[in-house]
Amino acid sequence: MRIPVIAANWKMHKTLSEAAQFVKEFLPQVAGLEGVDIAICPPFTALGAVGWALAEAKGRVGLGAQNMAKEAQGAFTGEVSGPMLKDVGCTYVILGHSERRSLFGESDELVGEKVRAAFGYDLIPILCVGETLAEREAGQTDSVIRRQLLAGTDQLSTAQVARAVIAYEPVWAIGTGKNCNPADAQATIEGIRGWVGDRFGAEAAKAVRIQYGGSVKPNNVSDYMAQPDIDGALVGGAALEAGSFAAICAGAVRKG
Ligand code: PGA
Repeated sequence: MRIPVIAANWKMHKTLSEAAQFVKEFLPQVAGLEGVDIAICPPFTALGAVGWALAEAKGRVGLGAQNMAKEAQGAFTGEVSGPMLKDVGCTYVILGHSERRSLFGESDELVGEKVRAAFGYDLIPILCVGETLAEREAGQTDSVIRRQLLAGTDQLSTAQVARAVIAYEPVWAIGTGKNCNPADAQATIEGIRGWVGDRFGAEAAKAVRIQYGGSVKPNNVSDYMAQPDIDGALVGGAALEAGSFAAICAGAVRKG
């Protein structure tokens, strides 16, 4: 049985004091929670502080970054590498978020190189895929996602794919309050799992955790978790407030 994983993507939000305050409020609210993996992905500047604050949770809440360079070190002004993320205590790294793709020009191939590099540094990539509204309306959802998956998992081993997290985030649902209908998200995610099965085998398909992301809130998370192929959520706006994110984590525990 796959353990759901809920990740907070803080994007470019929170100063050090705001981040510390969040963790202080958040940890007691999830103290007794079992059956869900939780990760917080702050901006680079707050990784160290959040990592320290999370140490109290003794590994129950993981630390993640929102991006990573594919190189380990060198003359790459402004970039942060996998070994640096590992050094600061990260377990996860979000890769190929639609904002990285659309605003910072990250290609499918670059995202794939980063995913491969992340495994090389023992980080678990959260590989984001998803179609824009125009692509959806043109009936291209499946082909876009297959293209992103093909490049995003290029040269990975079956064991690596089994450990990866994939986040299906329809771009039109991100930050808009227009969340994808849970049945539609299930259909797309079932397709992603099927694709993994065809390419990497049944074991990898069974093990890989696939999240839904896009306007997930405390009041809709259980609708996603009721779907058989959805293994958690990548949460932006609703993860900025401790009570709201804790409610989402609680709502992600599978019933029965
Ligand atoms: P949202 O963002 O929850 O604010 O829609 C999700 C994301 O960008 O990962």
